[in-house]
Amino acid sequence: MKAFVLEKYGSALRQTEMPVPIPAPHEVLVRMVAAGLNHADERLRAGEFKLLFPIDLPKVMGGEFAGIVVETGSAVTDITVGEKVYGYVGLFAAGTLSEFVSVDARDVARAPQSLSLSEAAGLPVAALTAWQALVDMGHTAQGDTVLVHGGTGGVGSVAIQLAKHLGATVATTVSTKNIDAARELGADIVIDYTRDDLAQRLGGTSLDLVLETQGGTTLLNSLEVLRPGGTAIGITGPPEPVFARRIGVNRVVRLAIRAMSARVRRRARRLGVTYRFLFITPDGAALQEVAKLADDGVLRPIIDHVRAFDQAQTALDDVLAGGTRGKVLVTTDPNSVTTHG
Ligand SMILES: NC(=O)c1ccc[n+]([C@@H]2O[C@H](COP(=O)([O-])OP(=O)(O)OC[C@H]3O[C@@H](n4cnc5c(N)ncnc54)[C@H](OP(=O)(O)O)[C@@H]3O)[C@@H](O)[C@H]2O)c1
Repeated sequence: MKAFVLEKYGSALRQTEMPVPIPAPHEVLVRMVAAGLNHADERLRAGEFKLLFPIDLPKVMGGEFAGIVVETGSAVTDITVGEKVYGYVGLFAAGTLSEFVSVDARDVARAPQSLSLSEAAGLPVAALTAWQALVDMGHTAQGDTVLVHGGTGGVGSVAIQLAKHLGATVATTVSTKNIDAARELGADIVIDYTRDDLAQRLGGTSLDLVLETQGGTTLLNSLEVLRPGGTAIGITGPPEPVFARRIGVNRVVRLAIRAMSARVRRRARRLGVTYRFLFITPDGAALQEVAKLADDGVLRPIIDHVRAFDQAQTALDDVLAGGTRGKVLVTTDPNSVTTHG
């Protein structure tokens, strides 16, 4: 089978021939139909995660996928050959930029029936991020007011839809060209981050939760617009001590993480708000809920474009170049390709 591997930190992803994996008892072997590219793939490639999450190289890259089950491990009872599934495998497992991928059965869910597999592959990372931020960590409830940064990006476009479904009033930041698209996704307050002052545009609106996707000054400014007791959930960092404890890193790394987040935590303390860092984990059960929401017409994946599988490095470059609306995917199905060359 063909797969894109990282041979050493910093080098480009290389397409290579590998044996088709044999599923372990708790795994399912999936013929990959489409896979999403993410900024995390680039961070992994560049070696940014190696202190927190050391991995063995060479590694098959890619985190999310949709495809068809072709074999099940002996302990798998609830998924059968021929089923359409989608999932996120996390950083450590063999990746999804591969014609076949063997995945822990607990990390996959039946794909939404109302979507093609190429559409479904646009959901796992974005929807799990939105779910783990808004539901698991943020406990978003009816009547809350939530700010989602980057509202037409991969994560933001799903987070707006999920926050609306949970009953929140949703504010979002986008660039000028994406104002209408953010409104179409359901955002109540749309802020142009290239022109508007965040606090001024919110005009005293009291925010319960911010899903912060940018870091830096955007994160610091986000703390200022929360109500006392509110929470900012950052997904680009910096990581903070609660996260360090959760992943169980050694003392040196814990101290480094404490130092990296000191300024943000100090500012949050002064304002009486909380800062938490989220790094998503695989969760097939949450994706099953997401599939229901997709089939109920509550959530739809926003796909910018789909490239042929052998253009995985170009597809990752597209994500990094910015200006995309929603997700960039690769597919093994020639009929699902939308961008050639
Ligand atoms: N920790 C985790 O588990 C986790 C999970 C998923 C993603 N992430 C991270 O979250 C970030 C977003 O991911 P993504 O997949 O949504 O990326 P994406 O699809 O590339 O979207 C990025 C969005 O950010 C917007 N943006 C750029 N500058 C901005 C600013 N100053 N203020 C507000 N918005 C701005 C862009 O809007 P315009 O196009 O309108 O300029 C774009 O819509 C990435 O850094 C990714 O690594 C982390």
